[in-house]
Amino acid sequence: MTRNPYQDDRGNKDRTITNVKGMGTLDPIRDGAATAKPAANGQFLIGEDMTGGYGMGADILHDCTIAVEKGEIAVIVGPNGAGKSTAMRAVFGMLNLRQGAVRLDGHDITGLTPQARVAHGMAFVPQTSNIFTSLTVEENLEMGAFLRRDDIDRTMEQVFELFPVLKDKRRQMAGELSGGQRQQVAVGRALMTEPQVLMLDEPTAGVSPIVMDELFDRIIEVARTGISILMVEQNARQALGIADKGFVLVQGRNRYTDTGQALLADPEVRRSFLGG
Ligand SMILES: Nc1ncnc2c1ncn2[C@@H]1O[C@H](COP(=O)(O)OP(=O)(O)OP(=O)(O)O)[C@@H](O)[C@H]1O
Ligand SMILES: [Mg+2]
Repeated sequence: MTRNPYQDDRGNKDRTITNVKGMGTLDPIRDGAATAKPAANGQFLIGEDMTGGYGMGADILHDCTIAVEKGEIAVIVGPNGAGKSTAMRAVFGMLNLRQGAVRLDGHDITGLTPQARVAHGMAFVPQTSNIFTSLTVEENLEMGAFLRRDDIDRTMEQVFELFPVLKDKRRQMAGELSGGQRQQVAVGRALMTEPQVLMLDEPTAGVSPIVMDELFDRIIEVARTGISILMVEQNARQALGIADKGFVLVQGRNRYTDTGQALLADPEVRRSFLGG
């Protein structure tokens, strides 16, 4: 391998969002079914009090709030089936909400299509099927920029700086890459839209611990450029370790919300969600 260690296999997901500066306060309420939500004011991106489900089916999300501030990393964790991916879809406009609103940089975007959200600076990397396997790496990145009318070469160079292995393999079919490399393609493709918010649903699924650490380092780098990161992660402990803010979801509801460090230090959270 090259010095870039993304080498496991797995799909990617990607999504990006837009804008603002957030100063939400966290009010963790630590009991049973209690909720813990950030204040709406000042969040760059917030899906607030979201209630809804798929089609005519029962509600999956119940009064669920997810938010991220400018340039920060927010991580959603919780058991399988908790509604983490559903919450991401709701924020990206892929779910009809019965209640609640999504705001980006202070603007209500609840009624916008996912495509319109991309145009407003949101990018989303979904949990699965997040790359075009029969296109080359370079073509995948170009697809990411299809909405742009300006010169995309500079952005592609930035993606290659972030993920050097993709430059080496730019003429290869994305489907031939390792899982970790595919995740890099998916994240890179999302970055090609020059998003203000990058939404990632389990970006490290199926990759080795080393590859996971490396990918987290790259995600931190992205956040330092001012892009907000909203990410679902099954590697909860490690993800909360790099999170400015963490959301623990259970059965479509907010269970705990706090800084990543506070959640990691909370005995109840540790016992129930982090394996002790
Ligand atoms: N497309 C869909 N249509 C109908 N129900 C769905 C759909 N996708 C998910 N669900 C249901 O919504 C609930 C939440 O699923 P979701 O995928 O959001 O959970 P998750 O927290 O992302 O789980 P995982 O950790 O396994 O990825 C589950 O009961 C699931 O069966
Ligand atoms: Mg999921």
